Amino acid sequence: MKIIEWEEKFSVGIKEIDDQHKVLVDILDELYLAMLKARGNEVIEATLDKVIRYTKNHFSTEELLFKKYSYPEEKPHKAEHDAMLKKVDAFRRDFKNGKLIGVDLMHFLKKWFVEHLQTTDYRYVKFFKGVGVSTLS
Ligand SMILES: [Fe+2]
Ligand SMILES: [Fe+2]
Repeated sequence: MKIIEWEEKFSVGIKEIDDQHKVLVDILDELYLAMLKARGNEVIEATLDKVIRYTKNHFSTEELLFKKYSYPEEKPHKAEHDAMLKKVDAFRRDFKNGKLIGVDLMHFLKKWFVEHLQTTDYRYVKFFKGVGVSTLS
């Protein structure tokens, strides 16, 4: 069973962003599987690093778009991104210090992903449609 499944309702109408969100769903699933199978700590740590790397990369794509088109909700949106990265970093630190973070981390990531995507990300759909953005190129 997958932790999150991509659904059409997640689409934000910009192909590259949808593709990044899909990759994020896959990586979260990878992390979930690594934890379920109680893989070695190195595997979990490497997967967690991958989640952080891809998430940062995705956030910077969105934030560049916000800047480029002067998206009026740039600030609060970026604040959510920053808070999320801070929280995941804290999880990573706890993990390194030997704490059991599995269930809490997966709950957090799943909840964050679904909520951020369906509310915060969704708020820019109308805006970018209005300024005619449907692709990044
Ligand atoms: Fe996003
Ligand atoms: Fe976002």
